[in-house]
Amino acid sequence: MSNNVVIPTSSIFKDDILKGKVAFVTGGGSGICKGMAEALARHGAKVTIVSRTLSKLEAAAKEMRASTGGEFLAVAADVRDHKQIQVAVDKHMAHYGRLDILVNGAAGNFLSLSQHLSFNAFRSVIEIDLIGTFNTTKICFPHLKASKGSIINVSATLPYNGQVFQSHACAAKAGVDALSLVWANEWGPLGIRSNCIAPGPIANTVGMAKLAPEGTDSVRVPIGRLGEVRDIEHATLYLASEAASYVTGQVLIVDGGNWLQPSLEFGYPQVCEQELNMREIMEPEKAKAKL
Ligand code: COA
Repeated sequence: MSNNVVIPTSSIFKDDILKGKVAFVTGGGSGICKGMAEALARHGAKVTIVSRTLSKLEAAAKEMRASTGGEFLAVAADVRDHKQIQVAVDKHMAHYGRLDILVNGAAGNFLSLSQHLSFNAFRSVIEIDLIGTFNTTKICFPHLKASKGSIINVSATLPYNGQVFQSHACAAKAGVDALSLVWANEWGPLGIRSNCIAPGPIANTVGMAKLAPEGTDSVRVPIGRLGEVRDIEHATLYLASEAASYVTGQVLIVDGGNWLQPSLEFGYPQVCEQELNMREIMEPEKAKAKL
């Protein structure tokens, strides 16, 4: 198979591998996590998708019902607010009566050197990515315990090499990896598995648009192509299925080897210039005001 072809999940996994299972996917209304939600449904699971904006969720649910023939419930909630997540999980349980697969995917990110991050900007990303993951998992725990379920946390490789412009996301995602290990350890005896997927640069996503504003040529991937959402779908189905019943406490990196590349190959002035260039592309007015 060519490196440049990612075949559909239905060519690899049976349609019914998740039959009878029910999933709760934060961030499932768009991007990578929408792909994860869709793949779970395509292979038999019923799915709740959760994010802040109900209209976007309902549009995504409609589209995915049509593409998979599966069942989707759309519930608006902000993962930063545990009370909203409690309401969302209660709605999920009232609708489906069980919860087998939790995907913690809701995330926020942007590029900035640490000294240019406001206190609120740093806190916002920690609250969405890290605290949101804790809030959702703690609230889902009794239901995952009842089903001997599986947790899939969406992580990142950014912390491994101290990615520049990413102090907020590095801190948050390193925390997510740590939580995932603790849950594998604490809840393995209850039959709950906890793993992470760390996606690399995935084409046509908000993440790519925000994190590689200079274009895909600036992204180096040893395997020779950008990732596709489908690459993450494959990893999700593997970890959610019985094929991974003895797999817990792992971070499955799906990035074509991208993280193996050095993070900082320039001197400090060049990094500052690179940040300025990015800001000019992303938000020209703000860039002029701040730097
Ligand atoms: N550079 C520096 N600071 C930034 C920024 C940027 N590109 N974008 C936002 N911020 C700052 C804001 O200025 C604000 O800080 P301030 O109050 O001190 O000015 C803080 O971050 C919060 O931003 P705000 O837009 O008010 O918060 P929000 O809760 O609505 O949004 C974000 C959260 C910032 C993470 C937003 O990018 C988001 O919602 N992202 C979701 C989608 C996403 O990023 N996906 C990519 C996944 S890789």
